[in-house]
Amino acid sequence: MKSEKIKKHFQKWAKDYDSSKRERIIPGFHDFYGAVVKMIPFKKGGRINILELGTGTGMLTEMILSCYSEAKLTGIDLTDEMLLQAERKLKRFKNRLILKRGDFSTTSFGSDYDAVISSLAIHHLTADGKKRVYKKIYKSLKKGGVFINADMVKSKSVSIQKTYLKLWEGFMRDGKVDEEYIKRRFHGAKKVDIYDTADEQLIWLKKAGFKDADVFYKYWNFAVFGGFKD
Ligand SMILES: C[S@@+](CC[C@H](N)C(=O)[O-])C[C@H]1O[C@@H](n2cnc3c(N)ncnc32)[C@H](O)[C@@H]1O
Repeated sequence: MKSEKIKKHFQKWAKDYDSSKRERIIPGFHDFYGAVVKMIPFKKGGRINILELGTGTGMLTEMILSCYSEAKLTGIDLTDEMLLQAERKLKRFKNRLILKRGDFSTTSFGSDYDAVISSLAIHHLTADGKKRVYKKIYKSLKKGGVFINADMVKSKSVSIQKTYLKLWEGFMRDGKVDEEYIKRRFHGAKKVDIYDTADEQLIWLKKAGFKDADVFYKYWNFAVFGGFKD
């Protein structure tokens, strides 16, 4: 997927992103993001170094920095408009937070991280792009480090996938999400979303070097999965 297309998509969306009330859009919102926070295997007061891919407006960033009081986090995002929202929202963490504009499919990450996290961003990459980024993530982690990705995946079954999408649409309608948004989600987003199954992605994680990889949480098309580095 061309980064320019994704950037344009999020430039348009940045101002309304948080006010769209993400709880009504993401089924199991608190458990979905909460699973990332809980799967980080370090002490809450530990001085850990975290890399976040696709920080956006800082939804997950805020949860992580609130919970891990001594953690330092570097967030990378393509879109200035999303980062601007994050910068405003996360002022109180400014001593522990670095926000960088960049494309995580092309920038190098270094090799100094205890945890790499991401939410709803890596699914914009093609299968080959995901495989490449998983290899970079593995290399960027210290021994004992962890990668946790909360993202959209597809079902192995075409008919179950259709059911999940119908259920999701119904979930948003029940939450009185704007019809315009729902239409955009199912048509506009098709151009920027590339879903792969969680099972395939676990295989790619293992090929990247992660010995232990698993799905930690799943609700329809929303899954949290990742791997631990020995
Ligand atoms: C749906 S938003 C998710 C934001 C946030 N993580 C959350 O959970 O609310 C996806 C974000 O990923 C960013 N993104 C997508 N592809 C990217 C890439 N290749 N490099 C950097 N950022 C990317 C977009 O700019 C956007 O801000």
